Amino acid sequence: MPGLNDDKRNWHFTTMLLKWNRQSNTRTMPWKGEKDPYKIWLSEIILQQTRVEQGWDYYNRFIAAFPTVQQLAKAPENKVFKLWEGLGYYSRCKNLIVTAKKITEEYNGVFPHSYEDILQLKGVGPYTAAAIASFAFNSPYAVVDGNVFRVLARYFNNDTAIDSTAGKKIFTELAGILLDKKQPGLYNQAIMDFGAVICKPQQPLCSNCVLNKNCLAYAGDRASQLPVKEKKLTVKNRWFYYVIAQHKNDVLIKKRTAGDIWENLYEFVLYEAVSALDNSAVKNLTAVKNLSGTKQPVINWVSSAYKQKLTHQTIYGQFINITLSKKTTPEGCHWVPFSQLSKLAFPKIITLYLKDKNVSLNLM
Ligand code: ADE
Repeated sequence: MPGLNDDKRNWHFTTMLLKWNRQSNTRTMPWKGEKDPYKIWLSEIILQQTRVEQGWDYYNRFIAAFPTVQQLAKAPENKVFKLWEGLGYYSRCKNLIVTAKKITEEYNGVFPHSYEDILQLKGVGPYTAAAIASFAFNSPYAVVDGNVFRVLARYFNNDTAIDSTAGKKIFTELAGILLDKKQPGLYNQAIMDFGAVICKPQQPLCSNCVLNKNCLAYAGDRASQLPVKEKKLTVKNRWFYYVIAQHKNDVLIKKRTAGDIWENLYEFVLYEAVSALDNSAVKNLTAVKNLSGTKQPVINWVSSAYKQKLTHQTIYGQFINITLSKKTTPEGCHWVPFSQLSKLAFPKIITLYLKDKNVSLNLM
């Protein structure tokens, strides 16, 4: 078993990885080779929990709408959330706004240069700080993301769980040793690309891999078993019943607050049940009766069930469309014309429903 001092194996890794990058890496992405720390930061925040293919257009739209950090800082928040709509993990968007304001106000609009200062920015952890510091300023910090964990766990045939404290320590140390200190930006992008296109989670391309001569997982035919994780993901089911109350051309909406998923996004009047409700229970919801002010509400329709999967939860949603003869405004709610819905950001489960109902949601 090689230890951290297996210099030859380490040297081979770095050299061959960079050779692969020079000769065979054809991966293109809009932020690749970018030197502007603002644009790198934006791309890395988008990519924190989003696949490259999905993040690509969002990145281009953000850069087009806000070419500089100052422009992002002074944008109306609803506009930023609307552009983020569909990406999920909205705390990233909230932190984006906080950090853009901080850089504009405290740093005079100049993105901080040092790793330590970058790490202090809200929403920026060690991975993102290393990416920004190395790509923008060529500072010698190794990125350690899912790709890097996987490549290293395989090359060194290391079974230490990557989500354990010990695993994080070992792989972070290894990543720092292997980093090419003269060209850290190039090296960091190369290892991420290598993990994405060669040392893939499923069906890695081992037989054509430039590292296979020294890859210990390949030698033991163990690549598909690595990396190891210790925690199993538990997923909770939730049942959301949305009452869409309309009066003439207006509809009742509410902004979600802190303490749960989808903070700052809009929704309709929500009743959350502890389990799935049958059709008659849906039609008899107290929320429907309260809004109508009558025991016999005018229910226009009840939608079929929609589903949205998050990492730790699956949300099932149904929509109950009702017409009110008189407006009532429960606490925290407000009435907006249907035509205004397109300006607000909603969770995906709601945009799916609205699209099915042909409500236009394009940014105006
Ligand atoms: N994931 C996170 N950052 C990335 C980058 N710069 N390139 C490719 N995938 C990434």
